[in-house]
Amino acid sequence: MTDPQTDQSPYQQVQAARKAFEQEFERFARFIDDSAFLAGFDLENSLAEQRALAELRTRHLGKKSALAATKKLIGRVAAEDRAAFGQLVQSTEAALVQSLDDAEQNLKQHIETQRVALESIDVTMPGRRPRAGHRHPITLLRERVEDIFVALGYAIEDDREIETDFYNFAALNIPDNHPARGYQDTFYTTDGFALRSQTSTVQIHAMQRRGVPVRMIAPGRVFRRDTPDPTHNPMFFQVEGLCVDRGITMAHLKGTVAEFLRRMFGPETVTRFRPSYFPFTEPSAEFDFSCFKCKGSGCRICKNSGWIELGGSGMVHPNVLRAVGVDPQEYSGFAFGLGIDRMCALMYELDDIRLLFENDVRFLEQFE
Ligand code: FA5
Repeated sequence: MTDPQTDQSPYQQVQAARKAFEQEFERFARFIDDSAFLAGFDLENSLAEQRALAELRTRHLGKKSALAATKKLIGRVAAEDRAAFGQLVQSTEAALVQSLDDAEQNLKQHIETQRVALESIDVTMPGRRPRAGHRHPITLLRERVEDIFVALGYAIEDDREIETDFYNFAALNIPDNHPARGYQDTFYTTDGFALRSQTSTVQIHAMQRRGVPVRMIAPGRVFRRDTPDPTHNPMFFQVEGLCVDRGITMAHLKGTVAEFLRRMFGPETVTRFRPSYFPFTEPSAEFDFSCFKCKGSGCRICKNSGWIELGGSGMVHPNVLRAVGVDPQEYSGFAFGLGIDRMCALMYELDDIRLLFENDVRFLEQFE
């Protein structure tokens, strides 16, 4: 009896199914007995071969395979041949399964070996030394300033960098339309917030939080609408100082700043105050110190003047005290503020403060 479509007897159909399998399996058969061939497959390719083998199994042994179709022919074989035909189908199927299992088993082992090799660590390899990080020069300087003031009995305050108009200007006696808003122009958002243009904002927060008397410094990041050049950045660091108590005078301000600068730049450092103007201090003064390089005789760092300008200061304006509910008749205080970036540039003799934020590790790692 032959299949009218293929013109093949059931026996021929079993043979044809086996032959078709063997043709496709020929390549995979080498996984069983050719270890050099198998070794040529890296992990990625071995996994691809594993998938191909699984597909081959489905194609030739699955429900829709030619071999499965021959099982349905048993009924059509003459009764006396049925047992033998059934055995032929079974033994053919067993042979295919065996071949596939063997190839798969070897491939699986090869994949396992490769995975272990990839994940293993050679303990005899020289170690890779982790690159130790270190602090940024601005941080180094900020920590020195903090150490000095902590030793003088000052607390360290930290505060927000996004501020309302009240803290950045109004409470600091800088009303709307005051010219100081121009030179400290900053970055505003639409909902009434702005990046703080000075750490003086922390004077207000600290007095609100701690009340008076208060003695604190506040190092931090500030922002201004300044065009970058060798002495300006739109983002830089300041340190604010505030001391409010009964009976505080300008003498306390001068003594504190002079002591700070002596501890920072050496005992022989001389400080000088020049009259100035800040809306939140009255009287106000800028302070300079004798050049740490030439000791006042004149050099490149101090532009031959013998002095280096450092920051602003003054007696806290009565309006600032009133803004936080402190009675200026009872309390007085002094405040000062200085820029860390320019101080850093001076101390490390940098020609350009922008170098500090270019994040070139070769530059930054010089300063530990
Ligand atoms: C102030 O910001 C005052 N708040 C300081 C102050 C505090 C005075 C308390 C009185 C009492 P001034 O705008 O001068 O002051 O800035 C202080 C320092 O910040 C400057 O001396 C300078 O070192 C630094 N500075 C200012 N603008 C820049 C900038 N664009 N880039 C880098 N540093 C800057």
